Amino acid sequence: MSVTVRVPAKVNVQLAVGAARPDGFHDLANVFLAVGLYDEVTATPAGDLGVTCTGPDADQVPLDRTNLAARAAEALAARYGREPRVHLHIAKDIPVAGGMAGGSADGAAALVACDALWGTGAPREELLEICAELGSDVPFSLVGGAALGTGRGERLTEVETGGTFHWVFAMAPRGLSTPAVFREFDRLAQDRRVPGPVASRDVLDALAKGDPDALAEALTNDLQPAALSLFPELADTLAAGRAAGALAALVSGSGPTTAHLVRDAAAAEKAARALRASGTCRSVRVAAGPVPGATVI
Ligand code: C5P
Repeated sequence: MSVTVRVPAKVNVQLAVGAARPDGFHDLANVFLAVGLYDEVTATPAGDLGVTCTGPDADQVPLDRTNLAARAAEALAARYGREPRVHLHIAKDIPVAGGMAGGSADGAAALVACDALWGTGAPREELLEICAELGSDVPFSLVGGAALGTGRGERLTEVETGGTFHWVFAMAPRGLSTPAVFREFDRLAQDRRVPGPVASRDVLDALAKGDPDALAEALTNDLQPAALSLFPELADTLAAGRAAGALAALVSGSGPTTAHLVRDAAAAEKAARALRASGTCRSVRVAAGPVPGATVI
């Protein structure tokens, strides 16, 4: 018997970043939207904990116990006093080190898969607690939809959405490390006072109305200058997306994937073709959201 869980990628439609805290993390106001690019994690009983991965970026995924899927299985097993005797196979379609929560998605998916496989029946609150221990973005991968994350991004409040938002994502030729981007944020912020992060009323209103034009006006990502500082060529991809008719273009999370908001599915296909032809990125994908979080299929 095995259990497969499908889990979406995310894009941040607002990422407000505060000053570094004593623990090194940053307080955030992080508005997440789950979009229809998916990993699938299959949990199968095995003699020992093991991870395999297939997909275009599979060679960049660690298969040891640093993988968030493996850590999720270990964390759930430890809470329920059992051994994590499970094989986890990740069919990976979310870009690796791309700022779309690919690793976090696998952690949330593995947790849901092992809970179902082992019949632990852990309450939702407990699953969310384990997710928060695994990483700041992992709870959102579990819940999906749209949500505001505060604290280091792990404390979630559901956000209302009044429609579907269409996106084109451009994958970069190399990854960016999230800690490195936050360190660059700190370096760039050295000589100024960083205000506390606050959720944008304009972003929340645009989501509630399902209005892509209003969302395009309101989107912000405080990590974008840091990502561009480490990876200046991303400016060319953002410009190519705008030239291709995107309503707005921004770096997704800590990058380097760039997210291009468009009006509808037809505009997405058109912008995707132009971005592919621009030669400014490794590959291009179209996806829409909100979509549900980690789900057994
Ligand atoms: O929580 P997670 O393990 O995903 O975070 C990865 C890294 O991103 C952290 O080690 C930290 O450097 C940075 N981070 C941060 N503030 C946050 C979330 C992440 O500085 N709120």
